[in-house]
Amino acid sequence: MGIIYNKEHKTITLQTKHTSYQMKIGNLDYLIHLYYGPSICDADMSYQIMQYDRGFSGNPYESRDARTFSLDAQPQEFSTQQQGDFRTTSIEVVNSDGSYSYNGRTAGYKISSGKYQLDTLPCTFATDADTVDTLEVTLTDSVSDVQAVLLYSVFEEADIITRAVKVVNRGNAPIHLKKIMSVCLDFLNGSDFDLVSLPGRYGQERQVERQHMTHHIHTIGSVRGSSSHQQNPFVILCDRNATEDYGKCYGFSLMYSGNFLAEAELDQYDQLRLVMGIHPKQFVYELKPGEVFEGPETVMAFTEHGFTGLSHLYHDFYRNNLCRSKFVQEVQRPVLINSWEAAFMDFDDVKLVEIAKAARNMGVDLLVMDDGWFGKRDDDNSGLGDWYVNEDKIKCGLHKLVEQINDLGMKFGIWFEPEMVSEDSDLYRAHPDWAMQIPGRHAVRSRNQMVLDMSRKDVQDYLIKKVNGILDDADIFYVKWDINRSLTDIWSNNAAPEKQGEVYHRYILGLYHVMDEIIKTHPDILFEGCSGGGGRYDAAMLHYYPQYWVSDNNHPIDRLKLHYGTSFVYPVCTMGAHISDSGKFVPIKTKAVVAMCGTFGYELDATHLSEEEQAVCKEQSGQFRKFYPLIIKGDYYRLTNPFKPGNMTAWQHVSKDKSESLLSVVVTNLTCNGPQEYIRAKGLAPDALYSINGGEELYSGSALMNAGLPIDREVEDYSSFQFYLKKQE
Ligand code: GLA
Repeated sequence: MGIIYNKEHKTITLQTKHTSYQMKIGNLDYLIHLYYGPSICDADMSYQIMQYDRGFSGNPYESRDARTFSLDAQPQEFSTQQQGDFRTTSIEVVNSDGSYSYNGRTAGYKISSGKYQLDTLPCTFATDADTVDTLEVTLTDSVSDVQAVLLYSVFEEADIITRAVKVVNRGNAPIHLKKIMSVCLDFLNGSDFDLVSLPGRYGQERQVERQHMTHHIHTIGSVRGSSSHQQNPFVILCDRNATEDYGKCYGFSLMYSGNFLAEAELDQYDQLRLVMGIHPKQFVYELKPGEVFEGPETVMAFTEHGFTGLSHLYHDFYRNNLCRSKFVQEVQRPVLINSWEAAFMDFDDVKLVEIAKAARNMGVDLLVMDDGWFGKRDDDNSGLGDWYVNEDKIKCGLHKLVEQINDLGMKFGIWFEPEMVSEDSDLYRAHPDWAMQIPGRHAVRSRNQMVLDMSRKDVQDYLIKKVNGILDDADIFYVKWDINRSLTDIWSNNAAPEKQGEVYHRYILGLYHVMDEIIKTHPDILFEGCSGGGGRYDAAMLHYYPQYWVSDNNHPIDRLKLHYGTSFVYPVCTMGAHISDSGKFVPIKTKAVVAMCGTFGYELDATHLSEEEQAVCKEQSGQFRKFYPLIIKGDYYRLTNPFKPGNMTAWQHVSKDKSESLLSVVVTNLTCNGPQEYIRAKGLAPDALYSINGGEELYSGSALMNAGLPIDREVEDYSSFQFYLKKQE
């Protein structure tokens, strides 16, 4: 059993294969957090908590003269509001009498087998291979009768614990929820922690940043209406000396695609609190009697094996327990060519067929028709929302075009940006009230497009009908779902003034509903997410789409950093990576090596390539197919850090049984007459012998991991190497 209640100590222990997590129904029924870390079985960990009379600390009323119990110093599972704990809160409510107070005490708990699910939000799930148990602890505020139901699911083998929270108004008056965090984790000693996050910008998403904890609240979050390019809903708390391979690391991955907030607070006593959930900015959610609010799930992992150990936990879990698309477990994903960088919006059916013909010679399986095929769309100033085929461009009609592509032996894919509307569109002219715009004010412009109010049922129904209509009209194999601006002018014409604080969140709920409906109706379509590149690359999106476009930046040398950062939490099989014209001094072989760290494809005008170049691409597509199972299902190792000065960037895929491995190296900056570089492999069987690229000489796993492979220095800039290691039976 992954969850143990100890009656004598009133502790509840969540037990995975290598980790334990413990809480206790403590003094005055407050739910006290005791431990998260390496396995301790169900030993009572409350001996760690020392209680003193701390100056200026508040004590619960019932403590009377006993001044040593203060929530300000207690580690808690769910920090409360206005109860003498001045650190960051997990919940903030405004009660019906106008008071700001929430005092959650444990009212009960329930242990069951299986994984909890949320009704309104995407969640991870258990497969037949998993042993999963769920704990539900109910905290109640006795005055308002508002419950916070804390949900925990324990994936024993995967070493993963998920958390979520539901707020239930069982009282007889409405309340307003102003902050609700899905996870609250307190550490008794937090001064030696670092916080790692994945900040970025358009074209440079998920760069890695690490900061020491100091005595204030470190916040990571987005208020752009989407999880954003600028931050990612994933953070790590790690030992100050943790490295790629060693050290304690705690990961927190929030399954939410809207505004989010992570706060890490080092308090006056060097205790550390981490909370994560929906960002409270412009969030005011009314809960009437009987209503329930669900907060998004957080996926937590702990390892003592550094960032690699943590990444492996997330990669395995997200490959198995996140996305229900059949493509997740598929043996091959198609090599695709996308029309965007080939033609932008300047194409017609003839041009697309020409690209497809050339791409067929390159071993490409799938042609994707990107932006520009619908409505009146010759540039990005018009047409969004008009999801019907522009027959001036696709003269033969969609059905016929797809047939022509299929006749070449290729599949067909299509681009949508459903959440947006252009002012110059039939949709906007018919329904100006569907676009988010604050009455009496002009909406902020961004790529000259407006945001549809996804919280509205009529908007959702329109999109489901339109997108499904196109998908049913032709044999469509793949969909790229894009969103190309941040949200502003948050206002729903459909909601009362006092409900406008719900719109940010209801937008996301509406989006999930639309995606759910379309994907459920088309289980055989491969969906890829996109947001001006990798702007909304989060675990919730990966619940719907098995793959996501990493970035609009296709420069292979920049991609080394993009793939490195993304891989901290998201598996390589989710990473959309293509070869394009970007990086003109980089050989095409190196571009291919880089794009093979993902779902491989092309983003260029194939008709411009010579026959020899097409033949090279064909060979590369073949290589990708050959290595695909290893790349997609194997363990991924970052061998170097491209953010640090160095001459090479290297990474490696190792099959789970360690029988084969692909080690890739890109030479980024060779110093003149510099020292010999060695790349040390990881994850091999130390005693096994491996051949390299089919050669006769054999090398022990131990030698390759400890002495490493010498990398030839006498090469051109931006050269690359792929070493295929095969274990001898
Ligand atoms: C975004 C995407 C690109 C392309 C364009 C089309 O920028 O990231 O790949 O689809 O939109 O407008």
